[in-house]
Amino acid sequence: MSHVDQTNRLDAEQFPADATDLQADVVTDHNHKLYIETVGCQMNMLDSELVVADLRKRGYELTRDVKEAETILFNTCSVREHAEHKIYSSLGRLRYGARKNPKKVIGVMGCMAQKDQNLIFQKAPQVDFVVGTGQLAQVAGLIDKARINHHNHVRSRELAVGLGRKDGKHTEITNSFQSYDPLRDPEMRPSPYQAFVRIMIGCDKFCSYCVVPSTRGPEQSRSPREILSEVKVLSDQGVKEVTLLGQTVNSYKHTQDGKLFRLSDLLHLIHEVEGIDRIKFVTSYPKDMTNDLLEAIRDLPKATRYLHVPLQHGCNDVLKVMKRGYTVEDYRDMMQRINEILPGCSVSSDFIVGHPGETEESHQKSLASIREFRFKNSFIFKYSERPGTKAAERFPDEIPDEVKKRRNNEMLKVQNEISEEDNAEFIGRQVEVLVEGPSKSAQKVGQDSSGALAEQLVGRSNCDRIVVFDGNPRLAGTIARIEIIDVTPTTLIGSIVTKEYQLHSGPSLPILQ
Ligand code: SAH
Ligand code: SF4
Ligand code: F3S
Repeated sequence: MSHVDQTNRLDAEQFPADATDLQADVVTDHNHKLYIETVGCQMNMLDSELVVADLRKRGYELTRDVKEAETILFNTCSVREHAEHKIYSSLGRLRYGARKNPKKVIGVMGCMAQKDQNLIFQKAPQVDFVVGTGQLAQVAGLIDKARINHHNHVRSRELAVGLGRKDGKHTEITNSFQSYDPLRDPEMRPSPYQAFVRIMIGCDKFCSYCVVPSTRGPEQSRSPREILSEVKVLSDQGVKEVTLLGQTVNSYKHTQDGKLFRLSDLLHLIHEVEGIDRIKFVTSYPKDMTNDLLEAIRDLPKATRYLHVPLQHGCNDVLKVMKRGYTVEDYRDMMQRINEILPGCSVSSDFIVGHPGETEESHQKSLASIREFRFKNSFIFKYSERPGTKAAERFPDEIPDEVKKRRNNEMLKVQNEISEEDNAEFIGRQVEVLVEGPSKSAQKVGQDSSGALAEQLVGRSNCDRIVVFDGNPRLAGTIARIEIIDVTPTTLIGSIVTKEYQLHSGPSLPILQ
């Protein structure tokens, strides 16, 4: 999954009011201004959207100014130490303000809250409550409770018993699915045309370096019925592209009415939803990339030809230490199947450099794997030792930071070269772009050849490449055909061919990706 660092990103879903044990009267003499900071993966982005929607329903309004907010939330990530430091330093900056204004309530949610509840209260006593990843329905109640309790630390009940378990002893996570009301506020999405849909939570893979299984609990798939009804509501609201979310999204399995549904079955179901033009999913696990899934993508025009399947390392010895459960040869077989069944499909990866067991030689193998597999892009992370993980228990984090940095830069350099070379192949070709809206980086406004208002717009091709071009902002939410005239390692730069092109009603077009 890619990572975010966002403040007050708008998007939403709603929670029921009864999900807290709060009995006392609600304190109302605060200003209802809400500030929220989100770090971490798309799961966190979605969680923030849900919480914000619930709070808006209760009269809160978002502000980007932390000083004027009397309710402040941090949605946290524990995947690397750096992500945690960021949150502690943000919390540190609020210490004085919180003491000065007793109406301020500060809450910490997300993976760090799940993992380090007591530590957070110790290190940042200005925090009023922590709430676990499966108990988001309790946030509103905890805010009220913190005000009533005059800032005596409070936490969501289930944090005390840990995350849900597969044996059914604790089923809070599963229940928290049921508490999601799929109605969302279109105004609150990153673009009104794109939405995340969670299809599963948790992870059962237990890669040795990773905290996610302990912060998100065991893998649980949501029922196709619920997912489908959520997608239909989103489509009614004007959403054109859904991104299905799961830590190992292609491990999705759910038995409903006696029938087993896999991700491929889900794609077929969602493909029938009118109004949805694109279906994506992240993040895939290499070992679960079965042919039925690749064939579903081949057969369903709305499924995009893009897979995020992290390899993590190019050396079998390190993959073994990581407990990833596959070899480079297995990954190569998977890539061959992808290329055979889905020609032109782009694949992106994550890599960790400086993992215990990585030698200079094994690092060279990671570099070679980028060259061999020609990823569209790769997210490259320096190994960060996470207490409680198998890697932290068994192996010292012995590779010096300068070495990790150097290896990271070498990986980025090779990946950039590959990305630019492969992007250059697009010059002179046409791609279908779902237009997201004006590009944030360049606010160029002028007129196009017909004299209409033109701005630099941004969108993504079917193979998930970022495309910028000049066009009328009203094209946002449509699929436009763009001819590529130039490229950078990260972006295709194009010019518009047809102003509007509806994916399934237009004439059949050649090589559009
Ligand atoms: N479920 C996804 C990724 C989850 S975390 C998957 O399995 O691919 C996102 C990325 O963070 C991982 O792919 C990995 O590359 C990186 N990561 C996870 N734990 C890490 C650690 N301890 N140090 C550095 N990077 C880490
Ligand atoms: Fe972490 Fe591995 Fe699960 Fe991904 S598959 S979330 S890296 S344990
Ligand atoms: Fe996501 Fe970070 Fe948690 S990557 S699952 S927010 S630890």
